[in-house]
Amino acid sequence: MKSKILTITMNPSIDKSTSVDCLLAEKKLKCSEPKSEPGGGGINVSRVIKRLGNDTIAAYLSGGYNGKLLKQLLIKENIKTKAITCFNNTRENLNVFDQKNKLQYRFLMPSATIFENEWKKLISEIERVSNIEYLVCSGSIPIGIPDDILRTIYSIAKMKKIKLIVDSSGNPLKEIIKDSVYLLKPNINELSSLIGKETLSTNDATSLAKSFVSKGICEIMVISLGEEGALLIEKESVHKISPPSIIKLSTVGAGDSMVAGIVSKLADKKEILEAVKYGVACGTAAAMNQGTELCYKADADQLFLNISSTEIV
Ligand SMILES: Nc1ncnc2c1ncn2[C@@H]1O[C@H](COP(=O)(O)OP(=O)(O)OP(=O)(O)O)[C@@H](O)[C@H]1O
Ligand SMILES: [Mg+2]
Repeated sequence: MKSKILTITMNPSIDKSTSVDCLLAEKKLKCSEPKSEPGGGGINVSRVIKRLGNDTIAAYLSGGYNGKLLKQLLIKENIKTKAITCFNNTRENLNVFDQKNKLQYRFLMPSATIFENEWKKLISEIERVSNIEYLVCSGSIPIGIPDDILRTIYSIAKMKKIKLIVDSSGNPLKEIIKDSVYLLKPNINELSSLIGKETLSTNDATSLAKSFVSKGICEIMVISLGEEGALLIEKESVHKISPPSIIKLSTVGAGDSMVAGIVSKLADKKEILEAVKYGVACGTAAAMNQGTELCYKADADQLFLNISSTEIV
């Protein structure tokens, strides 16, 4: 099977998870055997796409000992990679589960600084790709990379007629709305920050998304709403997509699982409504899993049967 989906991760990580009986200051805490997993927005999207049975290539910037480990971990999961080797060591994040209080602590390390020649190599790689239909940019942008990098990627995607899907926040999101991407997937908080507001009601978020779509800022917007599911805004319609209620264990990776579900179905030539319903199923499936665990296909397929959608006028 040819890979139609390329994911881009500029700020990947090794995500190390462990647990302690109880997280206490000043004490020596005995940790359980740590588990290392590949991490970072696009990489997570690629890992889920693979679990869903689709093919993908993960392009990313990495360096040092952790960069090598990242590659090994991705090879173990049979994920095709295009790694750009950088001078600085890739960051390692730490997740610690407090068994007694059933709380997950997430320590995010600063990004490795990336040099101009390094991110430009990534751009050149994207310029060289062929037969790609969907390009997914997800995750934060590390120190050293300009905030408008997504615009550079957009111009390449446009030239190559590749559909660009963006799941970003902050300044990179502010930049990319100057262009005209295929699909934007903010959560409702990212959308409100974009317009300088603390919160947005679902109605206001819908109106804002409609204005984005009518201005051509994006063809499609999917606003994720956590346990409430998502809104799908297209030029002629708005749908609210609702998952069944579940017992939530951890929402880590829910957004990436959702994006993976959407793009995986789109690559299989499914309609956008079905794709987003499946995305909501994948996000919900991820929320059913403990810790950093992403979604599993069997759970997503089962949940998909009970996802409802209503058209909002
Ligand atoms: N508490 C929850 N219960 C059930 N499903 C959830 C929950 N949180 C998230 N989801 C599912 O995951 C999808 C994406 O979640 P969310 O809106 O939290 O994305 P996000 O904020 O981008 O996530 P992330 O923190 O991974 O970036 C939701 O549309 C929903 O399907
Ligand atoms: Mg997100």
